[in-house]
Amino acid sequence: MANFVSGAWKSGIFDNKVVFCTGGTGTICSGQVRALVSLGANACIIGRNAEKAQSVATGIAKERCGSKVLGLGGVDVRDFDKVKAAVETCVRELGGIDFVIVGAAANFLAPISALSLNAFRTIIDIDLMGSWITMKATLPYLLRSAERHKGSVSNGTGGRIVFISSTNYRSARVAQVHACAAKAGVNAISDVLSLEHAPQGLTSNIIAPGPIGDTEGLRRLSDPTLREDAIRSVPVQRLGLVKDIADATVFLFGDTGNFINGACLDVDGGSWRVRGGGQFGNRKYPESINSAASMGREKTSRL
Ligand code: HXC
Repeated sequence: MANFVSGAWKSGIFDNKVVFCTGGTGTICSGQVRALVSLGANACIIGRNAEKAQSVATGIAKERCGSKVLGLGGVDVRDFDKVKAAVETCVRELGGIDFVIVGAAANFLAPISALSLNAFRTIIDIDLMGSWITMKATLPYLLRSAERHKGSVSNGTGGRIVFISSTNYRSARVAQVHACAAKAGVNAISDVLSLEHAPQGLTSNIIAPGPIGDTEGLRRLSDPTLREDAIRSVPVQRLGLVKDIADATVFLFGDTGNFINGACLDVDGGSWRVRGGGQFGNRKYPESINSAASMGREKTSRL
C-alpha cells in the first residue's frame, strides 16, 4: 500500500487529466502531485531551480508506468511572463490543464520590529502575487476544462483549482505578519474566484495545512527542541503527514468534491483552534516573540 495516498481512492480516477502545480518541487506539493499521478493524471511542476524541478518530476513519474511529468525550472512565480510560458508549455506538451495547485510560498520567522519593507514585500510578492499570477495564467485553460466537464459524470472532473494557504492569520501568529497578510489575501482570491466562475463549471477551494512533519516549512517555523510540546498542542496528538494533504487534494479534485466550492479545508488536526496568539513548537506567549526573533536571521529593523 502506498504511504503517500490513501488506498481508498480508485485507481485511474484521474486518467487523461492534467495538473499544473507551482511549488511542486517542495515536499507538500510534490506529494499532492505524486498522489494525482499515481491515480492517472499527467503533471507539470514548476520551480526556480531547474535541476531540482527535473529530478522531482522524474521521481514522480516513476509512480505510474506511462505517466508524463514535466519539471520546468527557472520559473519564479513573481514573473508573469515566465509562468505564462510554463503554462503554455504544459498545454502544448500535455494537451490542456484540468487541475491547478497554487502552492509556491516562502516564509521565515521575523517579528514586526525585524521585518524591513522589502522583506514584507518579498513574501507578499511570492505568496500573494505569485498566487494571483498563477491563477491568471491558468484561468483560460481551467475554464476550457470546466466547460468540457460541466454537468458530466462520465468523463471525470476538471476545471478545479486549489490554493495552499494557512490558518495562521485566523488566530494571528507572532513573527508571521508577512505570511498572515499574504495568506489572508490568497484566501480572498479563491473566495472571489469561486463566486465569479462557478457558473462556468469552475470550482476554487483552499487547503490550509497545519504542522506537517518533515517539511521545510516546519523546519523553518518551529523549534526542534520543543517537538514533543508541539505535538501535544495538536488536538489529534500527532504532526500531519504529506499524505494527509494529498488525500485532501484528491478529495477536492475527484468526484467526491463535486459540490465543494469556495471552501477552506483545514488539514491541521484542529491545531489552529488551540494555538491562539502563541507560537507553534516554540515558547509560550509572550516569550514566543523573542524566541521567534532568535530563530530568525539576525536582523535589525530597516525601513
Ligand atoms: C528577516 C529576511 C529574512 C529573515 C530574508 N529576509 N530572510 N528578513 N528575517 N529570516 C529579507 C531580506 O533581508 C530582504 O530584505 C528581503 O527579505 C528579501 O530577501 P532576498 O533574499 O533578497 O530575496 P529572495 O532571494 O527573493 O529570497 C526569498 C526568501 C528566501 C523567501 C526571502 O528565504 C527563500 O528563497 N526561501 C526559500 C523558500 C521558502 O521559504 N520555503 C519555505 C516554504 S514553507 P532587505 O530589507 O534586507 O532587502 C512555507 C510554509 C507556509 O512557506 C506557511 C504559511 C504561514
